Amino acid sequence: MRIGVLVSGSGTNLQALLDAEASGALAGHVVVVISNKPAVGALDRAAKRNVPTAVISHRDHASREDFDRALVAALRAHAVELVVLAGFMRIVTPAFLDAFPQRVVNVHPALLPSFPGVDAQAQALAYGARVSGCTVHFVDAGVDTGPIIAQSPVPVLDDDTVDTLKARILREEHRTLVASVNAVASGRVRVEGRRVKFAP
Ligand code: GAR
Repeated sequence: MRIGVLVSGSGTNLQALLDAEASGALAGHVVVVISNKPAVGALDRAAKRNVPTAVISHRDHASREDFDRALVAALRAHAVELVVLAGFMRIVTPAFLDAFPQRVVNVHPALLPSFPGVDAQAQALAYGARVSGCTVHFVDAGVDTGPIIAQSPVPVLDDDTVDTLKARILREEHRTLVASVNAVASGRVRVEGRRVKFAP
């Protein structure tokens, strides 16, 4: 399956996908990486693996829908079949989702529905949660509300800072994202209402 990855930052989740592909452990091919921000680490990671990149800035578009239509055009130009939001810090609209029905997945650094939106790790610490983790889910029109594909818990330790918790969660994100993308890309996943079911 042809995979397009949308990013906004350092790109360690993208790296996990690229590493899995390089070792023959990804049920797909990363064909393009698109960032809404210039000069982010994720673009360097893609370039090092000779994956085509593009920067499409939300600032150059009058509305979210215009921005989303530009993303869709770029993804279609690479015949993308599955879209992975890997640290992509923009909310996508139906203009985007309708182009890839049940083919957009996101990784989030908390156990949804706890701590949606930005700064999920800081939210978990501020709340005093003892367990947090990550969620990979299909994207719908809400904020981190789509059907859940996989979740992995991690403990929150007494001496955690946002940075130490981020790092512990990221390690689980990398593993959980690759496994989830493989399940979706190999057609083993179907969505029934809110529930995602796996074929044996
Ligand atoms: C990851 O922790 C990802 O879950 C989070 O941004 C980070 C990106 O790291 N995404 C969100 O918070 C989306 N709401 P990366 O650029 O190293 O993959």
